[in-house]
Amino acid sequence: MRLILLGPPGAGKGTQASGIINKYNIPHISTGDIFRKNIKEGTQLGKKAKEYMDQGLLVPDELVVDLVKDRLTQDDCKEGFLLDGFPRTVAQAEALDTELNNLGWELDRVINIQVSKDSLVERAVGRRICKDCGATYHIKFNPPTIPGKCDVCGGELYQRDDDTEETVSKRIEVYQKQTSPLINYYEEKDILANIDGQQDIDKVFDDIVKVLGSGN
Ligand code: AP5
Ligand code: ZN
Repeated sequence: MRLILLGPPGAGKGTQASGIINKYNIPHISTGDIFRKNIKEGTQLGKKAKEYMDQGLLVPDELVVDLVKDRLTQDDCKEGFLLDGFPRTVAQAEALDTELNNLGWELDRVINIQVSKDSLVERAVGRRICKDCGATYHIKFNPPTIPGKCDVCGGELYQRDDDTEETVSKRIEVYQKQTSPLINYYEEKDILANIDGQQDIDKVFDDIVKVLGSGN
């Protein structure tokens, strides 16, 4: 299955991605995670990306597109993939179309998770992530059993640098201007599925599975 997860910052893309990749056995390609990994490793790409990410701005298209193209040609993407946080501009979506065309592939579905602006800020600001395994928690909506510790691996939890109220608000503004036009873009291709992201995590997942089918 070839899928895109679309939705504003904090909508629950990463949270739902972990369920989707397990159920459908496809790799998770999160451009945000790739940039954060590069920042942690101190690469050139990480240094450049950080300048934009810290301000809540999008990393320029030319830094993102080649990275995703390379990733899609790796062996594990042959049977499908889940793109999370890409594309984020119409130019990125067009570049993806060209690449998929070259590979002879088509997208199956674009899952658009819808959440109100107030909830987005609350979700992002309360998010905590495991330093070791990347599992995502929320201090109120999905708290770990022991505060500050990951349930999966016992690792320490941290808060993302761009999860301050100010930066999240900027990211939402950028989403509205630069990314929301993609809703129409994929609606016109007849592959968009809107999902109510304002429900419990499990209920959101059930709705996604209803759209995607059992996967057998
Ligand atoms: P990226 O990492 O992609 O972040 P984002 O799109 O802003 O999305 P988030 O990771 O903040 O949220 P999410 O939707 O995954 O929510 P989550 O599941 O964690 O991008 C970061 C930056 O990288 C960008 O700003 C940009 O600079 C750069 N970048 C990345 N890709 C790019 C691209 N293609 N082009 C250019 N620049 C790019 O959930 C959030 C919280 O809510 C969690 O605490 C979770 O536990 C909780 N939660 C989830 N679901 C629910 C629910 N149903 N009910 C209650 N709480 C919930
Ligand atoms: Zn962990």
